[in-house]
Amino acid sequence: MKKITENHIDATSSQVDECLGLLDDAHTAKENAYCEYSGFKVGAVLLLKSGEKVHGCNVENASYGLTMCAERTAIFKAVSDGVKPGDIETIAIAASGKNFSPCGACRQVLLEFGGDITVVFEFDGKVNISSAKQLTPYGYVEVE
Ligand code: THU
Repeated sequence: MKKITENHIDATSSQVDECLGLLDDAHTAKENAYCEYSGFKVGAVLLLKSGEKVHGCNVENASYGLTMCAERTAIFKAVSDGVKPGDIETIAIAASGKNFSPCGACRQVLLEFGGDITVVFEFDGKVNISSAKQLTPYGYVEVE
């Protein structure tokens, strides 16, 4: 049965299907999570406008504050390979818990690379499809 979808960007049904496929990829990506301390696996997949995909997972540390989220792992991997603002079409994120939404730090980092990036995640059994801008009203921007 198809999941109930909260579609905040008016994605077409083929875009919704693509987002659901990316969510499956994110579930695969979460299996590499290094989450010795929280036990909470998170996976992210970026779909670039080039069609390429970049995976990320959360990476924890004995010094807890050094933990890196799955979303930023994926974004920083992509940027280190030459990805620029405007190059990311979609990010899908999946976690081992039932309720998940991207943290504020990751939302801010996403905004840097494009307010129009489509963000897909599952919360309470519903797939949420929004833009980075919709998820982060009043995100930090440099002003003159
Ligand atoms: N986590 C992410 O990977 N992404 C988020 O947006 C929020 C939280 C990770 C960090 C930590 O390894 C675990 O989830 C529990 O907070």
